[in-house]
Amino acid sequence: MSTTDPTNTFPLGHRSVKRLGYGAMQLAGPGVFGPPKDHAAALAVLREAVARGVDHIDTSDFYGPHVTNRLIREALAPYPDDLVIVTKIGARRGTDGAWLPAFSPEELTRAVHDNLRHLGLDVLEVVNLRLMFDVHGPAEGSIEAPLTALAELQRQGLVRHIGLSNVTATQIAEGRRIADVVCVQNRYNLAHRADDALIDDLARERIAYVPFFPLGGFTPLQSSILSEVAARLGASPMQVALAWLLRRAPNILLIPGTSSRTHLEENLAAAELVLPENAMTDLDRVAGTAAA
Ligand SMILES: NC(=O)c1ccc[n+]([C@@H]2O[C@H](COP(=O)([O-])OP(=O)(O)OC[C@H]3O[C@@H](n4cnc5c(N)ncnc54)[C@H](OP(=O)(O)O)[C@@H]3O)[C@@H](O)[C@H]2O)c1
Repeated sequence: MSTTDPTNTFPLGHRSVKRLGYGAMQLAGPGVFGPPKDHAAALAVLREAVARGVDHIDTSDFYGPHVTNRLIREALAPYPDDLVIVTKIGARRGTDGAWLPAFSPEELTRAVHDNLRHLGLDVLEVVNLRLMFDVHGPAEGSIEAPLTALAELQRQGLVRHIGLSNVTATQIAEGRRIADVVCVQNRYNLAHRADDALIDDLARERIAYVPFFPLGGFTPLQSSILSEVAARLGASPMQVALAWLLRRAPNILLIPGTSSRTHLEENLAAAELVLPENAMTDLDRVAGTAAA
């Protein structure tokens, strides 16, 4: 990943990060619940990511719960100066692993303090408010009360920047009247493009868009078009899926998740993959046809 090419970075708060980062969710146990099956391997993935230049890691205390944050601290603290760790609050896990809303000011305050403690930080660089009106996708509803609570924690100096996750355009507009929103984290990939217009709007506002499930999530993307393009370019389908996102819009910051060092290396190499115009045209046809 070139560090001198300005197109390979984008602002995230007052820092600029490389466009290819890492998402830590896959390091927790099955169903993002409990400890990893191989603790040492999880630490090795995190250390390898940073050794290879990753300066943006996405996490949350509800992964495990608390598992990925503790792994990040064990693997990486004291943290490199340029590392931006982004966390998210707004949910909690049931005893059975269910994803439940945790939106009250008390729950949000507790979540910020938990994240600070588990990550071993004095201030959280970016905190996404993860909306849970519908756990599976954006759904309308006012975000005034929880975002005001998060903005208060920012005023106290515990949170440097605020982002929003699983949100609609209306909620982003409402949120920006309450706080400075530096990033939006929604589900988006080659096959799932509901946010096409939103991404372009955010690009014009210089707000980072961080797609979750960039590779399709728990069941990675499967598409004959994707496989054909990848074979033509001598790359893997996952590399092409990431390269497509990098080319899709300049404000897209990637956080592909993996528990495998081999996959991590493969994913980071996607930063070097330049997609020709005819590949972009072919890949446009994946939406609606792929399994994701
Ligand atoms: N805001 C939200 O609501 C939200 C929701 C979900 C996720 N997130 C964040 O977004 C990040 C990315 O999402 P994600 O990790 O769920 O999904 P993802 O990045 O789309 O895909 C992860 C899946 O792809 C596999 N994979 C990764 N690299 C691969 C490769 N090169 N070849 C083949 N398979 C590969 C992983 O398995 P292996 O472990 O075997 O590589 C895992 O099953 C998460 O880590 C998390 O930080 C946020």
